[in-house]
Amino acid sequence: MNILLIGSGGREHALAWKLSQSPRLTKLLIAPGNPGMAQFGQIVPVDVTRIDLLIDIAVRSNIDLVVIGPEAPLAAGLADACLAAGLRVFGPTAAAAQIESSKAFAKQLMLEAGIPTAQVHIFTNAQQAADFARASQQIWVVKADQLAAGKGVIIPNDLESMLAAISQISAMGAERILLEERLTGPEISLLALCDGERLLVLPPARDHKRLLDGDKGPNTGGMGAIAPAALDREAQQWIVERCMFPAARALAAAGTPFCGVLYAGLMLTPDGPYVLEYNARFGDPETQVILPLLAGDLLEAMLACAEGRLNPDMLTWNGGAAACVVVAAPGYPEDPQPGIPIQGVESIEQPGVIVFHAGTAWDHGQLVTAGGRVLCITGTAKTLERACELAYLGVELIQFPGMQYRSDIGSVDS
Ligand code: AMP
Ligand code: GLY
Repeated sequence: MNILLIGSGGREHALAWKLSQSPRLTKLLIAPGNPGMAQFGQIVPVDVTRIDLLIDIAVRSNIDLVVIGPEAPLAAGLADACLAAGLRVFGPTAAAAQIESSKAFAKQLMLEAGIPTAQVHIFTNAQQAADFARASQQIWVVKADQLAAGKGVIIPNDLESMLAAISQISAMGAERILLEERLTGPEISLLALCDGERLLVLPPARDHKRLLDGDKGPNTGGMGAIAPAALDREAQQWIVERCMFPAARALAAAGTPFCGVLYAGLMLTPDGPYVLEYNARFGDPETQVILPLLAGDLLEAMLACAEGRLNPDMLTWNGGAAACVVVAAPGYPEDPQPGIPIQGVESIEQPGVIVFHAGTAWDHGQLVTAGGRVLCITGTAKTLERACELAYLGVELIQFPGMQYRSDIGSVDS
């Protein structure tokens, strides 16, 4: 089978790594990819926003399945364009991807489907949001109603920082501002492959979203992850029945069935699990810890999704654990510095340690930083503790000025 994989982050590196293990793979094209992915296939230097060009390449290269990694091309209608061109695609249409691209859409869907989620107030104007926030005498979580690479959520601690957050989110150009009730508890990411109707649930993962140790600093796209995260069978089943199937059913009933990865970001509050958000794709860095646990054939399962014949038991897992530590550029998340030479990547050869590239590039034969999250180092082992140790063994071999990483991945619950 010929596959075209879209994207260039750590998630897509992990997808390329896993897809390349499939006995059914003939040719893998990757657009635009990153330096770490070149070993798995042919890099096609075309940006994910060039939908017409990507379709043209897919048709001319006899692509059997297009796999879309990131959210932006999904929201821009790349899957729709694939379907219109008669191509099989793993990834939802723009209409179904609104479950991620519009927080207001997702909230409405959750309310209508009776899915537990935080109370919310939606404003089209920053002044109204600020007036409401002041009068309510409550501290709200402030969210932008748009894709923001994990940076569209601010959790203020007092009135002053809440008002500043409203101004900041408004300055991002968000059409709508959401003020959401603040929930507390450990977070879980539960992802499932979906063929529009059936779900194949992947092992639960935990993403560490804050920049600094101990859940401090600003939210990021994710600074590390572990899988499987502790979640008992009944709780997982409850989440699947109450939070995931109803969302898939609501999208199907609206005539926009969801094909791809349905990702529920949940908070396990003292009152039970609440959905914080849905994503319409694999998580980054969750994918870098979920896929190393997979013993079965990812390509086969993705194809089954695209063809509407997913079997919920078609994948097997190796029973181990994985931890991933993200190494970020100085200045991340606000203003990551590009072009910094990176040393040590080639010296990581320890069994049980995998290096996934994210924001890297070649500059005259030297690997340099080229994005906020630069590398993701995954450790895999029988136990989570050992997986974390292995990930940090890998991180310690990497060097570049100003590199940032958390040292508590796997030992805290946020
Ligand atoms: P989201 O993009 O909506 O998943 O939000 C990003 C992160 O912000 C989440 O993973 C949580 O850590 C935090 N967050 C979002 N909404 C809430 C909320 N209502 N209460 C507390 N924390 C939240
Ligand atoms: N790690 C969070 C996300 O992929 O949205």
